[in-house]
Amino acid sequence: MKKKMVSMMLCAAMTAAMVAGCGNREETPAEAPAAEAGEETPAAEDGEEAPAEADAEESEAPAEGTLVMATNAYFEPYEYYEGDQIVGIDAEMAAAVAEKLGMELQIEDMEFDSIIPAINSGKADIGVAGMTVTEDRLVNVNFSDPYTTATQVIIVQEGSEIAGNDDLAGKTIGVQLGTTGDIFAEDVEGATIERYNKGMDAVQALANGIIDAVIIDNEPAKQFVSKAEGLKILDEEFVTEEYAIAIAKDNEELLEKVNTALEELTADGTIQSIIDKYITAE
Ligand code: ARG
Repeated sequence: MKKKMVSMMLCAAMTAAMVAGCGNREETPAEAPAAEAGEETPAAEDGEEAPAEADAEESEAPAEGTLVMATNAYFEPYEYYEGDQIVGIDAEMAAAVAEKLGMELQIEDMEFDSIIPAINSGKADIGVAGMTVTEDRLVNVNFSDPYTTATQVIIVQEGSEIAGNDDLAGKTIGVQLGTTGDIFAEDVEGATIERYNKGMDAVQALANGIIDAVIIDNEPAKQFVSKAEGLKILDEEFVTEEYAIAIAKDNEELLEKVNTALEELTADGTIQSIIDKYITAE
């Protein structure tokens, strides 16, 4: 019971964006707040134990084992290699979630467009890859409550005539295969799309003058531009997106657990401190 009430209270403290997720917890008891003080033995006076079925779920031993995270580790500051270690916001957040679940995190690096298939074939339990929640992906996987927001931006050469989204028409645009940048590029009139396995490869092609622009997520864009010569990020942004953890449709139980962990890690400031460690405010 305690765990359920704690997560309910945390839900109440969540941001508006995340409240929707809390509301979906079908088994949340309506009377939970009133029961707070009597959590131990509410029916002690007449010698009766608390109803067994109400506590059965909570007394379950923490899930043992490994939580396998699928990612594409070329997406600094969310996931990237430091030596042979995969670090970054997503890696640290997922480790914190795994710890809450009493599990060991194991990270599997793969192509970005292999992540959802890996989840659905059972090769991975969660997909954490700066992955944007989209309608199309929701057909194939569930998403946790979002843990952060991002935007799509345009990178061009410093002297480029491209000054905003409208100037992209008819240009050659580089994207990372299967990303939302790829989807946006498809909507640009008359554009030729060059798809790369890694975002940095697209940025390198831009630096080499092979393509005219790159559409990619804002924080990786800053990292990539700082590692190349003569590039800039345009001020005008495409839509704001939400990043969340992808989980197989048939694993509702894990979705619930991950959302509870995220609620707790948000409420106690863990997520924000992980983000602040990797993204310094301008
Ligand atoms: N946010 C974009 C998307 O979901 C790009 C994510 C790319 N992530 C990565 N780890 N390479 O499509």
